[in-house]
Amino acid sequence: MCQYNGHFVYLAIFNYVIKITMRVCSIIGYKGESLAAPLLVTCLQKMEYRGYDSVGIGTINDGKVSVRKGVGRVEDVDSTLLLRILPGRIGIGHTRWATHGRVTEANAHPHTSCNGEIAVVHNGIIQNYSQLKSQLLMKGHVFKSETDSEVIAHLLEDDYKETGDLRGAISNTSKKLAGAFSFIAAFSDGTIAGARFDEPLIVGISKDGYYISSDVVGFLNYTDRAIFLDNRDIVILKGSGMEMITFDGAPVVRPVTQVAWEFGGIDKGTYAHFTIKEINEQVETIVKSGRGQESKIEEVSEMLKLAPFIYFTGSGTSYHCALVAKNLLAKYGKRKSDAIVSSEFQYLVNDIERDSVIVAISQSGETADVLEVIKKAKTLGSKIISIVNVPTSSLARLSDVSIHMNCGPEIGVAATKSFTSQLTILYAIVDSLSGGVIGLEDQKYKLQNAVKELVERQRLIEQIAEEIKDVKDIYVLGRSIHYPIALEGALKIKELSYVHAEGIPAGELKHGPLALIDRNSCILVLNPNDSTFDDVKANAHEIKARGASLIGIGNSPSDVYDRFITIPEMDEVFYPLLEVIPFQMIAYYLALEKDANPDYPRNLAKSVTVK
Ligand code: AGP
Ligand code: GLU
Repeated sequence: MCQYNGHFVYLAIFNYVIKITMRVCSIIGYKGESLAAPLLVTCLQKMEYRGYDSVGIGTINDGKVSVRKGVGRVEDVDSTLLLRILPGRIGIGHTRWATHGRVTEANAHPHTSCNGEIAVVHNGIIQNYSQLKSQLLMKGHVFKSETDSEVIAHLLEDDYKETGDLRGAISNTSKKLAGAFSFIAAFSDGTIAGARFDEPLIVGISKDGYYISSDVVGFLNYTDRAIFLDNRDIVILKGSGMEMITFDGAPVVRPVTQVAWEFGGIDKGTYAHFTIKEINEQVETIVKSGRGQESKIEEVSEMLKLAPFIYFTGSGTSYHCALVAKNLLAKYGKRKSDAIVSSEFQYLVNDIERDSVIVAISQSGETADVLEVIKKAKTLGSKIISIVNVPTSSLARLSDVSIHMNCGPEIGVAATKSFTSQLTILYAIVDSLSGGVIGLEDQKYKLQNAVKELVERQRLIEQIAEEIKDVKDIYVLGRSIHYPIALEGALKIKELSYVHAEGIPAGELKHGPLALIDRNSCILVLNPNDSTFDDVKANAHEIKARGASLIGIGNSPSDVYDRFITIPEMDEVFYPLLEVIPFQMIAYYLALEKDANPDYPRNLAKSVTVK
């Protein structure tokens, strides 16, 4: 997807646009001929989709550092605090997703040094901050926030005071920090510097100045010329020049990348939210997934054939896909495997069979829990296969073979189209392994029409969402391959509408959960025409007898259900992919009923890069 042309690299649209979705919160710096504050506010607004809780800006003017910050969305904080009127042509900005310290104005970034001459914005976590903080407190530094980030401002102040050398201070400070971080510091003398370790940092070069940002989308309105810094790189903007060094002070040169993309790609278009746009895009994305990657899919299926043991892993929605994968592989590929959620697998991975094959599934390719598993497994000789939506992600880079979901940027925090793309790729892998038992290629267009039919059921889903908006608890039931979809359906409802929802294997009802069911409960039942049909219908009758309201999802409507969402008839192996769509839509419309913003669920971030 990447083609060289002199010193410039032209990245294909999707690779590039997807790359920008991978981190939470944002940092941005600017030094140039324009007024910094209004630019920084616009840049932060561009990066808003990533999710955050507070925002702040710091500028340098006439040797003076000025900071304004507050809790809330960029637009709101800007309209109350007038961030954009801060003076100067040099500045830094931040949107915070709190990891250390509450969501308060004091904890919002930038953080300043004791002498007020250095302001810092930081993404990530400083693991050794409490140790560093104790040392700084002993030296007399006074802290104004509860964050881990503030140590950076004080360390820089200390190092600068000791050496009188700004360049040395930045590299000394960077070397003292442990964890995953990128930071930008602004100094009262007008210098701006950025440093990165395991969090992205990109320099944008425009006609009127330089940008430093955690996300290219921050400055893409102003320039498409970018330098992607490597780990342990530092960039210093001093006077009118730019210098790049490593943490050890050695000069480095990184190539200038020209980033090309369709601006429309991350626009909501005519949709009210990214989430509903992405739900609708599934009509196209399921056809694109895996396209052009046939040889990789074959390579993966060979690896799975030879593997002494296979593990699927992932987090959240991607873990639910891993559960479906295990089921598909057993039923259609006649291979045994296990599916383990990554946050738990990291404790088990040391004990797995040597030479196992691990299939890691991740939209972002940056989920810390997943990376933790992979890093450990590699040291034990495991082979790593990944299915990712960001081909340049850490997970893709750590894998022996990586398959690209190719579903375009997913901006909504709730995973929707990435899930159906993951499933499509798994169908293709199992087909390659089994000599085409599933028959994905022949059925793809039928599947596409079925997805189209489902996303067009908007009116019915809106009515259902309206009817169930006041229920306190939702239970989602499914058996066999539909159980992971019950989990996924419940996850979608929880995260988008904040209604308690639980996925339960339908056969387990009588072992406990039935005690919870009464006339105030709402039960969604996955009841398609396959081997689970009769048993699930019997469960639906048991629930009906206890007075709860029932919504069925399947192919054959029945009186037992108060409402029924019909899934187009297809080979049963495709039902999980189809069934998930009504849940995505119910969750979306329920969020609207509850006045929640479906694109930015509270407390959640698109990509969880912390453990
Ligand atoms: C689900 O809608 C997500 N919000 C979340 O559970 C997500 O699936 C999980 O964090 C894994 O992300 P990944 O696929 O990028 O690794
Ligand atoms: N750990 C820092 C904090 O809690 C930075 C979080 C972020 O990346 O926004 O303030």
